[in-house]
Amino acid sequence: MRQSRSSEPLRQGSAATQTPGDPQTSGFHLRSVLDAIPGFVWSALPDGDVEFCNQRWLAYTGMSSDEVIGEELAVAIRPQDKSGFVEKWRAALAQGESFEAEARTRQADGRYRWFLIRAVPLRDAEGGISRWYGSNVDIEDLKQAQDEVLKQTSRLDELFEQTPEAVAVLNADGRIIRINKEFTRMFGYDPHEVLERSVNDLIVPERLAESALEYNRRLKSGDRVEVETVRRPKNGTDVHVSLLAVPVNSASAGQVANYAIYRDITERKRVEERLLESEVRFQAIADTAPVMIWTTGTDGLCNYFSKPWLDFTGRTMQQEVGMGWTEGVHPDDVQGCLDRFLPAFHDRLPFRMEYRLRRADGEYRWVDESGIPRYTPGGEFAGYIGCNIDITDRKSAEEERERLRQVQSELAHINRVTTMGELAASIAHEIKQPISAAHTNAKTCLRWLGRNQPDIKEAREAASRVIQDVIRSSEIISRIRVLFKKGEPEREWVDVNEVIREMISLMRSEAARHTISIRTELAPQLPDVRADRVQLQQVFLNLMLNGIDAIIEGNAAGDLTIKSERNSDCQVLISVSDTGIGLPPEQANKVFDAFFTTKPQGTGMGLSISRSIIESHGGRLWVTGNSDRGATFQFTLPLEKAAAA
Ligand SMILES: Nc1ncnc2c1ncn2[C@@H]1O[C@H](COP(=O)(O)OP(=O)(O)OP(=O)(O)O)[C@@H](O)[C@H]1O
Ligand SMILES: [Mg+2]
Repeated sequence: MRQSRSSEPLRQGSAATQTPGDPQTSGFHLRSVLDAIPGFVWSALPDGDVEFCNQRWLAYTGMSSDEVIGEELAVAIRPQDKSGFVEKWRAALAQGESFEAEARTRQADGRYRWFLIRAVPLRDAEGGISRWYGSNVDIEDLKQAQDEVLKQTSRLDELFEQTPEAVAVLNADGRIIRINKEFTRMFGYDPHEVLERSVNDLIVPERLAESALEYNRRLKSGDRVEVETVRRPKNGTDVHVSLLAVPVNSASAGQVANYAIYRDITERKRVEERLLESEVRFQAIADTAPVMIWTTGTDGLCNYFSKPWLDFTGRTMQQEVGMGWTEGVHPDDVQGCLDRFLPAFHDRLPFRMEYRLRRADGEYRWVDESGIPRYTPGGEFAGYIGCNIDITDRKSAEEERERLRQVQSELAHINRVTTMGELAASIAHEIKQPISAAHTNAKTCLRWLGRNQPDIKEAREAASRVIQDVIRSSEIISRIRVLFKKGEPEREWVDVNEVIREMISLMRSEAARHTISIRTELAPQLPDVRADRVQLQQVFLNLMLNGIDAIIEGNAAGDLTIKSERNSDCQVLISVSDTGIGLPPEQANKVFDAFFTTKPQGTGMGLSISRSIIESHGGRLWVTGNSDRGATFQFTLPLEKAAAA
């Protein structure tokens, strides 16, 4: 501690002997005042050493006057603040100007509080500094309040900076006061590049200058602006933005600023454009495709009909949407349509239906409609889409085909009946044979019984033969009845060899009558084929009878040979070969034509019907002339996998 100087008028110490009037007394008086005032005051010598501190300050710092007097001012200042403070104090001392600094000062309890320390120089008559007088003001609370405000402000600043939309604060003239980070990111401008510049000059493309000015006017009149527009970043590549500009008014100062908030919607616009494009493309396709297309919403009500639909019904989109389309449906079909569509819609299932729809000219046309549920790329149900095709012509063609099929089966029936008619004698003979055999066997039976010693064993055997004969004749009759019957074709597993044997049995006596021998070469273990037995019998009837006719016409005894074989893995090959007159010269390929005949009583249908029967079974029927005599008709029948295995 340095020695304090004796000439100092304000000395800390006892004042008991001092009287008013002399310097001691006035010093005493002043000190009492200074000690009493509710503040911290001090004085220092021109070189800055403390000369005096009032009692209140000493009490506050918990220091004795000895610790303070003669010391530099910064004794109780917090070490961190000290050097700055001392530097400032020395500068003030050097320049002789008033001093002011903030520093934390230690309390008696060791804690620090912020003080504002001020000092002014007192000059003597010559202008030299005789003393410094100072005061310390506790500004801790103020400081804390200031800090709080600073913190708040920086928090708000942070919020402003981090706002996910690009924000520009503009003054009333549209000049930029401030921008945030997102603005910099979106438009590529740093804050220092844009401050004080007109936002319109900066980011508004020329073609939009007029509308931007209009926004300014609206803001000025206190309106907000909310638009989707285009703005130009620094790199020149325009972006779609949604712009929200709002005037900010303060009650005291009127309109102070405008906020312009930009959101980049380029991606959304792109998606929208793509959607629009695909919508346009869909419409173009739907309107040109040669089908009638419609869509429904998720409520099941129709919301779109393609041009071909509208052209077809001759109605407008407005008339057709919703349930309007049902007005064009034939009244008898409306319920059926709804019964089909609604449950499918409910279960989100595809559906298909046929109904009559009124065409623009008033005619009801049959349409085939099919619809399926459609989904968004995200998998959300979006309604149904469907198309209709006019099938009236197809339907009538089908009906025509069905009619033809019936005529054909009529014809086949007639062909069978007439062919059987030709065989009447032969058939009668065939039936008669087992009946006369039965007759003979019955007589034999009686004979064995009529003996004195009836031979029961022999009689029983004869009776059994009677039964066999009767069974045979009834079998023949039922086979013939089937051939006379009209009926729909029926597919079953058929043993072709068996059919051949049956047909031979019907024709045997007819052949014998003309000294024709029927021979067979039947492949053993021929797999069964899927066929209509009666139709197959009819083919054999026709071919065998034609063969017999050809031999008869040749006026010589001859052979009719029937072969069956398995020609490949998946086919059965049948041939009917005769030794007759052979095919009509030059007309071999005509024999299959309907109504082609060379016979006085012939209809010329036999081969034509036979060929259509074989073809309907998936096979082929053809003829070749034999090298020596006669002709050979051959046909194939496909074997189904199960049978071929
Ligand atoms: N095996 C054959 N040999 C020589 N010519 C034949 C033979 N089969 C058929 N034809 C010729 O083919 C024609 C047509 O035969 P198809 O069976 O279709 O009719 P059709 O026998 O004349 O009359 P339908 O069978 O109706 O009584 C016969 O008239 C005959 O000229
Ligand atoms: Mg014939």
